[in-house]
Amino acid sequence: MTSTPQPRRAVCPGSYDPVTNGHVDVVRRAAGLFDEVVVVVLHNQAKQGTFSVAERISLLAGSLAGVDNVRIEAFADRLLVDVCTELDARAIVKGLRGGTDFTYELPMALMNKHLTGVETVFLPGDPRFEHVSSSLVKEVVQYGGDVSGLVPDAVNKALKATFA
Ligand code: PNS
Repeated sequence: MTSTPQPRRAVCPGSYDPVTNGHVDVVRRAAGLFDEVVVVVLHNQAKQGTFSVAERISLLAGSLAGVDNVRIEAFADRLLVDVCTELDARAIVKGLRGGTDFTYELPMALMNKHLTGVETVFLPGDPRFEHVSSSLVKEVVQYGGDVSGLVPDAVNKALKATFA
């Protein structure tokens, strides 16, 4: 008798405040590598973000529409490894925009591996989005700059409405 294999599930964690095209690229590529991907919106209840968690989820859902092995979940004030255990995810997928990201991400990957054995898979970020981060696009829009092409259209609209 053969047992049904467990789906290979990965998480793509982040604040997603808001999602950028760099995030969308990484999640789509992760969805091509794993059976299921859970986009995990991790937030701190004591820290007010720019967008509410409900808005972040809604912007993510719109940006990832059509990628059918991806779902979105939010968790507050939790260790990422505990979320991975709860979701039965065997890997964390992160995009790397360059050496600075690697320097920041490596200790977290090693700590997460130390805590529960969960692996981290790094994907090289698309060079078109190397300079894109949630905080930078917010700053640019706040002072009247244009971030078209760097974030999904709905996010661009939401940024303009927020910082108008
Ligand atoms: O989008 P961000 O802000 O770069 O995401 C960072 C995030 C939320 C993925 C990271 O801070 C995280 O994993 N936080 C959860 C708390 C935790 O597990 N901390 C220990 C990491 S070793």
